[in-house]
Amino acid sequence: MSTWSPRSWRGLPIRQQPEYEDPLAVGAVLQQVSALPPLVHAGEVLALRSQLAEAGLGRRFVLQGGDCAERFQDLNAEAIESKLKILLQMSVVLTWGAQTPVVRVARMAGQFAKPRSRATEQVDGQDVLTYRGDHINGHAPDQRRADPQRMLRAYFHSSTTLNYARALLDGGFADLHAPEHWNLDFVRQPERREQYTQMLARLREAVGFMEAVGGRQETLRSVDLYTSHEGLLLPYEEALTRRVGSRWFNLGAHMLWIGDRTRALGGAHLEYFRGIANPIGVKVGPTMQPDELIALLELLDPEDEPGRVTLITRYGAGRVSELLPGHIAAVRSTGRSVTWSCDPMHGNTHSTPGGLKTRDFEAIRAELRGAFDAHRQAGSVLGGVHFELTGEDVTECIGGPQGLSAEDLSRSYETFCDPRLNYAQSLEVAFLIARRLQADRGRS
Ligand code: PEP
Ligand code: CO
Repeated sequence: MSTWSPRSWRGLPIRQQPEYEDPLAVGAVLQQVSALPPLVHAGEVLALRSQLAEAGLGRRFVLQGGDCAERFQDLNAEAIESKLKILLQMSVVLTWGAQTPVVRVARMAGQFAKPRSRATEQVDGQDVLTYRGDHINGHAPDQRRADPQRMLRAYFHSSTTLNYARALLDGGFADLHAPEHWNLDFVRQPERREQYTQMLARLREAVGFMEAVGGRQETLRSVDLYTSHEGLLLPYEEALTRRVGSRWFNLGAHMLWIGDRTRALGGAHLEYFRGIANPIGVKVGPTMQPDELIALLELLDPEDEPGRVTLITRYGAGRVSELLPGHIAAVRSTGRSVTWSCDPMHGNTHSTPGGLKTRDFEAIRAELRGAFDAHRQAGSVLGGVHFELTGEDVTECIGGPQGLSAEDLSRSYETFCDPRLNYAQSLEVAFLIARRLQADRGRS
């Protein structure tokens, strides 16, 4: 195999990239980004990698989540606080269900570039370039030209977000098991509310006990939070790739994943990803062939290193039972260790008659159930979950504890890309997963 360098992807077939009008301006921006300090430390990246390896064995559980696409306009304290709050609260619930520490990986501080199914779209009867995320162009129809300066802005937005997130966690914001931080008002059914209240009470007792014996760090008060984004815009990712010792790391995030649309064998994205030492995610959708999956693992993880690859499956509720067993069997036939995660969002998107993209809470729930079932039947471990979610009370996905209907969506539809679970839907899904994890433990 030819030698790898941070730029060896250049010249290979590449998908989902913007066309910049001024290559010199792009070069100048990339030079600036590559001179800026890393956003994360290689030691943290390696810590995450070993935690993901443990999740692959069922000794931890991964919660990865956040916006589909972060927006520059949301860079403010409240938005960062509410994202952290929902992730931490969900992780507390999952810790209780899994009885293992939860690894929190935010889609945050860099999730600004999106793959799109079409190059252009119609806005008010006009053909305009599609919005590819704030990393590349603006959402307003007159801002759709790809602007290289946005790569520099994305770097500074990421660093500011990460700085405030770290400050919150260091400052004790992680005390979210305290009763005043929880809002269960959304749970309308009295028995369900009673059940959750009891769960939280037991959780608090457990926390109190662990604090009393001084062993709390690892399970509930640990302030570890890792960042992740789709490694889509390769010129930018290359500029954040740094040599540490004998290895290369992408130090713009702890974990990066390859999207379902850019994982082609022989393509630029796989070439870039094979050379970085970060833990990497691979989205696995319905078109992935089992032999292709094996080839991909051999390329990305030739040494079969635990924690290196997390396979994030996203088939859709109707197809998970048909497709996941074959992928589990393919990986098993190689004797390799991977960490499995379920993304019940990206295979379950549809549009309402009014033209809004949405997802049905029941479909999300069904794909999760299908993934848990398939792994259980195969004697394999589902080590984590991957969501698009927000701590705000938005109306983007239908169903869930508030019973949102298609007509409700226009009330608070904020996302520029995919629909996210809101606070109530996110907490509900965490309780459902916790109950399933608990039930599976009881069965084994
Ligand atoms: C995403 O996670 O935002 C995404 C685009 O997912 P996928 O590559 O699985 O479609
Ligand atoms: Co998305």
